Amino acid sequence: MARGKSLMRMSTLVMQSMAFLQFFSPVPGSQLYMNGDLKLNQRQLLNHRGLDTRYNVSVVNGTSPFASDYDLMNIIAAYWERNVTTVFSDPNPVWMTGRAADTPFIINATIRYPVEVILYPLKTA
Ligand SMILES: *[C@@H]1O[C@H](CO)[C@@H](O)[C@H](O)[C@H]1NC(C)=O
Ligand SMILES: *[C@@H]1O[C@H](CO)[C@@H](O)[C@H](O)[C@H]1NC(C)=O
Ligand SMILES: *[C@@H]1O[C@H](CO)[C@@H](O)[C@H](O)[C@H]1NC(C)=O
Ligand SMILES: *[C@@H]1O[C@H](CO)[C@@H](O)[C@H](O)[C@H]1NC(C)=O
Repeated sequence: MARGKSLMRMSTLVMQSMAFLQFFSPVPGSQLYMNGDLKLNQRQLLNHRGLDTRYNVSVVNGTSPFASDYDLMNIIAAYWERNVTTVFSDPNPVWMTGRAADTPFIINATIRYPVEVILYPLKTA
C-alpha cells in the first residue's frame, strides 16, 4: 500500500507585468478595439511555496532620471530578461476610422486572464 504524501500549500506569485498593445494603419483612426488574452510566460519554476515577489517591481522605473529608462526598446529588453512575463495577444484588433477633429482617439481594450498551468517544484512532507 502506497504511503500518502501531503503537498505543501501552493505558491503565490505577485508580479507587476506588461500588456503591450500596438497596431499600425495607414488610415487615420478614431478608435482601436482590442479583446484578447494576457498569457503567462514562465521560463523558470516559481518558488516551491510561499510568496514569490521577485517581479513585484514596475516595468518602467519611474524614479530614474535617465531618458534611456523610458525608451520603449530598453523597457521591452529589460522586461524580457525576466523569467516570468505576461504577453497580451489579440489576433483580431479592430481599427475604426472617421475621427472628428476635436474628438479624442479611444483605445478600448478587454484583457482576459485565461486559466494557466503554473509550474513550481513540489516538496513532499
Ligand atoms: C507589490 O508591490 C506593490 C507596489 O510597490 C506594493 O504596494 C505591494 O505591497 C507589493 N506586494 C507584495 C505582496 O509584496
Ligand atoms: C530606478 O532608477 C534609479 C536611478 O537610476 C535606480 O537607483 C534604481 O535602482 C532603479 N530601480 C529599479 C527597480 O531598477
Ligand atoms: C532567472 O532564471 C535564471 C536561470 O534559471 C536564474 O539564474 C536567475 O537567477 C533567474 N532570475 C531571477 C530574478 O529569479
Ligand atoms: C468598449 O467595448 C465594449 C464592447 O466590448 C463596449 O461594451 C464598451 O461600451 C466600450 N467602451 C467604450 C468606452 O467605448
